[in-house]
Amino acid sequence: MNFIEIAKKRYSVRSYNDKKVEEEKLHKILEAAHVAPTAANLQPVRLIAVQSGEGLGKIGKGANIYGAPLAIIVCADHSKAWVRPFDGKQTGDIDASILTDHMMLQATELGLGSVWICYFKPDVIRREFGLPDELEPINILAVGYTDEEAPDPERHSQTRIPVDELVSYEML
Ligand SMILES: Cc1cc2nc3c(=O)[nH]c(=O)nc-3n(C[C@H](O)[C@H](O)[C@H](O)COP(=O)(O)O)c2cc1C
Repeated sequence: MNFIEIAKKRYSVRSYNDKKVEEEKLHKILEAAHVAPTAANLQPVRLIAVQSGEGLGKIGKGANIYGAPLAIIVCADHSKAWVRPFDGKQTGDIDASILTDHMMLQATELGLGSVWICYFKPDVIRREFGLPDELEPINILAVGYTDEEAPDPERHSQTRIPVDELVSYEML
């Protein structure tokens, strides 16, 4: 699969079967995160890969991961993130999201399903995983296998706004 084929194939999987994610595939997913760019290469990001029954139980207190056997909590360290000097915008969330997207697309290429999760209770995730104050959980990526039938990779003409609404050339 080339890049656009992977991007079109990916969809949010909200039903997983019991099959575990192979160690080798997990390492490839984590490698995709490792090579992701961050602002000024400051890498203000930390990942917690959760696969044990106990760990998944802890996540379940703060998030619905739809029964996935693997969840990766993507955290940003706001004390280390780059800050744009003109307006003080800090890029920790953006950096964390680039890692998340790299992992999500790598999971697709490996034949795995995934769903990006922001609907979670950050205070619960912080408490359950003992996160230090400077680390904020930004995204959770749930990963695993599904028995669902995959949607049509050409569905985006129906499920996305038209390209000419999305894109303007030169001026809005
Ligand atoms: C930043 C972000 C946060 C999301 N949070 C959740 C979530 O908490 N729970 C969930 O089921 N899906 C979540 N999603 C998945 C989106 O709902 C989904 O990507 C979108 O509806 C498009 O569908 P598709 O992924 O199947 O193409 C999130 C996606 C993004 C990019």
